[in-house]
Amino acid sequence: MITIVRLTKKYGTTLAVDDVSFTAEAGRVTGFLGPNGAGKSTTLRIMVGLTRPDTGSATISGRTYVDLPNPGLEVGVLLDASAQHAGRTGREILTLAQQFMGLPRARVEEMLETVSLTPTEASRRVGDYSLGMRQRLGIATALIGDPEVLILDEPANGLDPAGIRWMRDLLRGYADRGGTVLLSSHLLHEIEVIADDIVMIGLGRIVSMGTKTELLHEAGTVVRAADLLAL
Ligand SMILES: Nc1ncnc2c1ncn2[C@@H]1O[C@H](COP(=O)(O)OP(=O)(O)O)[C@@H](O)[C@H]1O
Ligand SMILES: [Mg+2]
Repeated sequence: MITIVRLTKKYGTTLAVDDVSFTAEAGRVTGFLGPNGAGKSTTLRIMVGLTRPDTGSATISGRTYVDLPNPGLEVGVLLDASAQHAGRTGREILTLAQQFMGLPRARVEEMLETVSLTPTEASRRVGDYSLGMRQRLGIATALIGDPEVLILDEPANGLDPAGIRWMRDLLRGYADRGGTVLLSSHLLHEIEVIADDIVMIGLGRIVSMGTKTELLHEAGTVVRAADLLAL
């Protein structure tokens, strides 16, 4: 479970995150939805200790990220699939994660299989990967420590419709086994396909949140006019 309480972050005069509170529950996929610049990445970066908030707190299973002794075993993170050394192969990147977290060697091949990267693809340099392949590798790296919580920033970027369905099934299975999944997107249809719960953010503020069924049922538009009758 992820708990965010009254987070605020200002960059100069830009209020990137404005008093944001929400939870992502175990056993559910929570979609974090909002247009570009809404404050999604900043919020996720604060959760994993890469950005310091001005106020508020973000905890993962009750502890802040920096207090987790071997964080990869508790929370899998994919913020930027291209932020990898382009000269390393996919297998090398996974092997580094495996060694860093003190995991059995066999996890590397298991993860390659989970994300459907073939042995040939795994032996190629990441600089030659498509964005979709990088996303798969990033998801493999996030999952390798078998964490209970997954935090993914726009993981569907670069995936084709088949790739999005593949990811939906993977995240669904993970949540059904009790995992907590928080993923962001700027596209409603991606979130609609994958998420159980939706948290909507705009200009740094939470606009709306609830289960997908609740939110999509109450869809409607409020129109105001100076002369309502005429309207
Ligand atoms: N390191 C930074 N320095 C200055 N402004 C930033 C920085 N990171 C994000 N911002 C600003 O904060 C706002 C939210 O950005 P971001 O969290 O990346 O939004 P999103 O991920 O929803 O697209 C934007 O206005 C962005 O320009
Ligand atoms: Mg972003």
